[in-house]
Amino acid sequence: MDIRQMTVVCSGKIREAALAKLADKVQLLTWQQGGRVPAATLAEWLAKADALYSIANLKIDAQLLAQAPHLKVVGQASVGYDNIDLQACQDRHVRVGNTPGVLVDAVADLAYGLLLDTARNITRGDRHVKSGAWGQRKGLGFGVDLAGKTLGIVGMGSIGSAVVKRARASGLQVIYHNRHENPQAKTLQVPYVNWEELLTTADFVLCCVNLNPSTVKLFNAAAFAKMKDGVRFVNISRGKVVDTEALVAALESGKVAAAGLDVTDPEPLPGDHPLTRLNNVTITPHIASSTLETRDAMAVLTAENILAALQGLPMPAEVKIKD
Ligand code: DGY
Repeated sequence: MDIRQMTVVCSGKIREAALAKLADKVQLLTWQQGGRVPAATLAEWLAKADALYSIANLKIDAQLLAQAPHLKVVGQASVGYDNIDLQACQDRHVRVGNTPGVLVDAVADLAYGLLLDTARNITRGDRHVKSGAWGQRKGLGFGVDLAGKTLGIVGMGSIGSAVVKRARASGLQVIYHNRHENPQAKTLQVPYVNWEELLTTADFVLCCVNLNPSTVKLFNAAAFAKMKDGVRFVNISRGKVVDTEALVAALESGKVAAAGLDVTDPEPLPGDHPLTRLNNVTITPHIASSTLETRDAMAVLTAENILAALQGLPMPAEVKIKD
């Protein structure tokens, strides 16, 4: 079948950069008015879809795939793909692409920004001033230096490695823990430590692990209890790797002095959630990759993944589905 007759369905608004790649090459069905396409419309579109451009955390499981009998590829417009049931895709011979690489610097910048914020009370200071409390030390307190402290990275991949460079500029020592040692970390001369050692040694803990069954609630009450008193905790991976209740308790007791979270469980976080009532946590709404340049690069890579798969070619970034 000629690729120009193939249909690419997008579950939300597609960026101009991806539109420019796809518009004259395939039949496009996108929901440009913003938000997520209504379920009934999506079902109608999926019935004729050869490719699905996946955004807005669409759950892609056997039930959804059953509505898309001609589907050949899912182009996930993010690096994380925990919204996709890979086994269900494999069962239907649907290939999956994602967007590693292009968002590394943007995510590392935000991780480093949150880290700095936990040490130096940047957003807390902002809230303090805007509440009219400048001049009253109470409620703000002192920050801590980064220089000479230890940052423990859990889940050392390309994003962790990019954070290492930023952290070293501030004089932080870095250690890491992964399920397996990472050769890239060896090149960067970052020591590998076991889980216990990371938790008990780090002054700052940065979570970069993928969400999978083995990492759900990895940061639970037992993990927080092992950490140093007054540790600072940052999460830029997925909210579900943290037991939120345990984190709230650790922040309330001061065991965790401050946290910076770009991801939460649940997402979106309700405005009256216990986390939002704590002054020692800074929360950003899952925006680590949200820069104009990075989102464009992610959109282009998603479009390229889809076009390659529709032509039966190797995808620039294909998620390996295990046998
Ligand atoms: C990703 O790509 O998975 C990021 O979490 C999006 O910000």
